[in-house]
Amino acid sequence: RQSHPPHHGGSPPVSSASPCRALSTRRQLYEKDFPVYKQPVEVGSFSLDGERRFFNDARQMRYFVKPHPRPNFDLRDGYKDRFVKRDDGVKEKLDHILRWILANRSKLQSSVSAASSSPALGVDIVTWRGHLTKLLTTPYETQEGWLLAATLFRGTLYISEVETEASRHDRDNRTERHEEMMYWGYKFEQYLCADDIKGSPNPVGVVNTNEAFCTVVQTKLADHKLLFSGEVDCRDGGPEAPAAPACYIELKTSAEICTPKQRSNFHRFKLLKWWAQSFLPGVPRIVAGFRDPDGLVVGTETIQISKISHLIKNEYNCWKPTVCMNFCCEFLSFVRTVVREDNPRVVHLFSWDPHQDVTYSVHRDTTYCFLPPWYVEGMAS
Ligand code: A3P
Ligand code: MG
Ligand code: MG
Repeated sequence: RQSHPPHHGGSPPVSSASPCRALSTRRQLYEKDFPVYKQPVEVGSFSLDGERRFFNDARQMRYFVKPHPRPNFDLRDGYKDRFVKRDDGVKEKLDHILRWILANRSKLQSSVSAASSSPALGVDIVTWRGHLTKLLTTPYETQEGWLLAATLFRGTLYISEVETEASRHDRDNRTERHEEMMYWGYKFEQYLCADDIKGSPNPVGVVNTNEAFCTVVQTKLADHKLLFSGEVDCRDGGPEAPAAPACYIELKTSAEICTPKQRSNFHRFKLLKWWAQSFLPGVPRIVAGFRDPDGLVVGTETIQISKISHLIKNEYNCWKPTVCMNFCCEFLSFVRTVVREDNPRVVHLFSWDPHQDVTYSVHRDTTYCFLPPWYVEGMAS
């Protein structure tokens, strides 16, 4: 099954002859030089409040407060009585980013050349950082597939995720333990973040996962001009802190590492996801909390994103950043080759399952359409 794509006509990864029907995800095909990835530049930010309402400002920004070297954070505290959980059955698609684009259109377009061939927005691709993270990890993913919907509108390709049947099933069948453990990461954030630059964390407050601060960054992957947004956990508020996104800090929790096998698994699986998520927007460091099975954080560690490739060097048969980036780049090229019709009512649905190729189907005027009328009309005026 890992051998060369036998299905869908058996063409190589991106064949130059006739439009490709499939894209291979075999790692070996992507072991090439690291593609050019421009330093991401923050072009703006937005906030979502406790009721998931959009604000074109940084009101939800939080400030990192250095923890005690041996903290005793109880991540289970408040799960029953001080937790407001976001409704993950509500699919927001790209709506918040589109709102941000409409509100900040002049900023973006001011940098666009007059050349008529360039897209109206001045970028080739608009998406969420999380969707790109999934693309980066695809060559190493063996458990979960994905569905990505793509629409070309005014020369810009919009990419939005569609929930798979399997993911929907998992979401509907989570154990109580799993539900609680999903809270732990947010509780960890509360122990380390203050709402004000000179404030302190408030561990007796409510954890509300509707709240978010999102950065919007622009960058270039080879010849793809990207605009994407991603949630940011907090920033370094110190006087020496660099400008965004270099001042941002990603917070993570993971099980305490007690054996060489656990360390190896941490490097091989967890650091792949952590690296991909933060590398994309140019967030330089992660503060990780290691917890015991009862949800007590027994230690914290700062991990520099730039040092992750060294950390994993001694692992046998480990993931490679270049494979991740080259696959993502080839996928974007593939999508841009396939999606030619500039029409907000047309969706190309790209589908991938582990050990298979990426394939696609075309949908016209269906529920897959994700560019809302207010955006299409707003861009026309
Ligand atoms: P951890 O990162 O400590 O696991 P993020 O790290 O991206 O800022 O996300 C914050 C928290 O949301 C995570 O904390 C985890 O608790 C929860 N979370 C994020 N993505 C998740 C996913 N795919 N499944 C389950 N929980 C998730
Ligand atoms: Mg986060
Ligand atoms: Mg986090």
